[in-house]
Amino acid sequence: MTSFRVGLLGHGTVGAAFAGLVVERAGDVERVTGLRPEISGVLTRSRGDFREILEASDLIVELMGGRDPARQYVIEAMRAGRHVVTANKQLLAHHGEELWALAREREVQLRFEAAVAGVVPVIRVLQESLSAAHVERLHGIVNGTTNFILSEMARTGASYADALAEAQRLGYAEADPSEDVDGMDAAAKMAILARLAFNTPVSLGQVRYEGIERITADDVAYARELGLALKLIGTAERIDGGLSVRVHPAFLYPGHPLASVSGPFNAVTVESPAITEITMSGPGAGGPQTASAVLGDVISAMIPPASTPEVTEDLPIVADVESAFYLHLEVADRPGVLAAVATVLGDQGVSVKSVLQHGLGTSARLVMVLHPVLETRFFAALARIAELDFMRAAPRAIRVIEEEFT
Ligand SMILES: NC(=O)c1ccc[n+]([C@@H]2O[C@H](COP(=O)([O-])OP(=O)(O)OC[C@H]3O[C@@H](n4cnc5c(N)ncnc54)[C@H](OP(=O)(O)O)[C@@H]3O)[C@@H](O)[C@H]2O)c1
Repeated sequence: MTSFRVGLLGHGTVGAAFAGLVVERAGDVERVTGLRPEISGVLTRSRGDFREILEASDLIVELMGGRDPARQYVIEAMRAGRHVVTANKQLLAHHGEELWALAREREVQLRFEAAVAGVVPVIRVLQESLSAAHVERLHGIVNGTTNFILSEMARTGASYADALAEAQRLGYAEADPSEDVDGMDAAAKMAILARLAFNTPVSLGQVRYEGIERITADDVAYARELGLALKLIGTAERIDGGLSVRVHPAFLYPGHPLASVSGPFNAVTVESPAITEITMSGPGAGGPQTASAVLGDVISAMIPPASTPEVTEDLPIVADVESAFYLHLEVADRPGVLAAVATVLGDQGVSVKSVLQHGLGTSARLVMVLHPVLETRFFAALARIAELDFMRAAPRAIRVIEEEFT
């Protein structure tokens, strides 16, 4: 067994989750790469020695955060010929050009998927999948804290202060949330995205940003009445042969792909004539989620690009699944109909979540939403309902996806 030694700088929320994930997924990584990853040393403020860790490592993962000494360690690691994986947006927004130049010079990889939008693979997509697309515009919800606060204000009518307190209680906002709520965190991430999408240097100082601190419950209520969503949006777009990169609160029409991104989720929309529009969304932060993106980068650094998929499991294919259903019935308008339908559903263990009834002259329309049930049971009930003598038309059923991921 050949091991691949990973030196870990930082053992906080993400670092500790990453260390655990390396142990948990070592077998899978070995199957993909032929090498078994192991943590060769850990640096925190109270333990570990950077140079000893560097000496004992094939790759350095930087999860300390902040600009210094992270910058110095990353530089030293690359000068020593080590690949580096980092989740540090401040480091890249301020020192990206210096670090990318050094990576090119030393022919090492500097990977940073987790630095923007957490586990959403937006960096990889911009750098690889869309590297030949002429990107016209990016829109991003790249700060989960502010998106949670605005979603909470819209959902409950809460004030900004109360929604922020709720975000802090749930761990979505730091005790000092200033860099999130004033837009600076999102600005750093937009600087990195713009740099990659438009292949032009973008420093944090060139990104105009406004935060959400002055948004009132009234603004959010007004948006809801108009059917609009209020989000903190990062934009990077070509304008008159130049580039504008900015972050500010904005209303979105419901058809915009970012309008429905709520809670602590992040999402990025890329527009280009060749691809029309692509939206990627998912969890923007969290120890295990971010650690997963970091481990993905480590694996990418361990293998040559373009691995081919290998079968490692033999999972049985599941034929019968549970689904919730919307059921639409046209029935004769007479007593006992609803009870008869409910009996057939009940016989198959199908329970009703909600029912609407509309009279249509001598017939009636029954619209039901049913709780999740094994599909075979639902379709058995549906076949029996279709045969009931009061049915005026074939019953119609559509599956309902209930997950909302917020
Ligand atoms: N948390 C998230 O959900 C998330 C999401 C995306 C990206 N990130 C990024 O991931 C990085 C880590 O975030 P985190 O939330 O895990 O931070 P954290 O919980 O504050 O942990 C930071 C770790 O780095 C160590 N450290 C800090 N300064 C150091 C120094 N000068 N020398 C040695 N060790 C030092 C700390 O040591 P001590 O234990 O001794 O204090 C701690 O173990 C940051 O760049 C952050 O922006 C985080």
